[in-house]
Amino acid sequence: MKIEVVTLFPKMFVGPFDESIIKRAREKGLVEIVIHDIRKWAKDRHKSVDDRPYGGGVGMILKVEPVYEALKELKSKNSKIILLTPQGKTFNQTLARKLSKFQHLILIAGHYEGYDERIRKHLVDEEISIGDYVLTGGELPAMVLVDAVARLVPKVLVKPEALRHESFNQNQGLDYPQFTRPEKFQGWRVPKVLLSGNHKEIEKWRKKESFKTTKKNRPDLIK
Ligand code: ADE
Repeated sequence: MKIEVVTLFPKMFVGPFDESIIKRAREKGLVEIVIHDIRKWAKDRHKSVDDRPYGGGVGMILKVEPVYEALKELKSKNSKIILLTPQGKTFNQTLARKLSKFQHLILIAGHYEGYDERIRKHLVDEEISIGDYVLTGGELPAMVLVDAVARLVPKVLVKPEALRHESFNQNQGLDYPQFTRPEKFQGWRVPKVLLSGNHKEIEKWRKKESFKTTKKNRPDLIK
């Protein structure tokens, strides 16, 4: 899979994709991530990519021309074009799974005051928000989306069976609690059942604990 990000702040992307699982996926050629500076497609001599809103108001608006030019160059038949914006559809695991099946994603991350509406209307396939809060720009949301999608690309996770048991899978509550050594720390003990070797009992305990956490923290996930 190839993921390209068009942003005003390419330097923000140094780091998150250069460590751990995503780094390995890139090295193995499973996921190609390319970050583009949108100013590359600015037409005027000041290289401006944003401007004041028609009708007045605060802040600057991302212009339509540089986005149009960027997409003209980057887009191909198989591209899915995504705009990161608080007005978008809320991102979740189901959407991450869908996006992981595409060959080519192009993410547009504007700095947040707004986008020229013609970008939304004519240039993008989907608008996505990572949650009901407003960030200073779409860069962190783009990173979140890339991370969540890239780990679902086949062979990126060395143990894909881990995916079957994690939170937000269909008909499944939040993850159950996990422990590792030591067995006792500061008087805090690992639940006895996990030391028992009784797989049936362990399974039962995990289901019960998962339900308890889900009911407490995310009752909306219980049907
Ligand atoms: N830009 C600013 N806030 C955002 C959010 N919550 N999701 C996506 N893009 C954003």
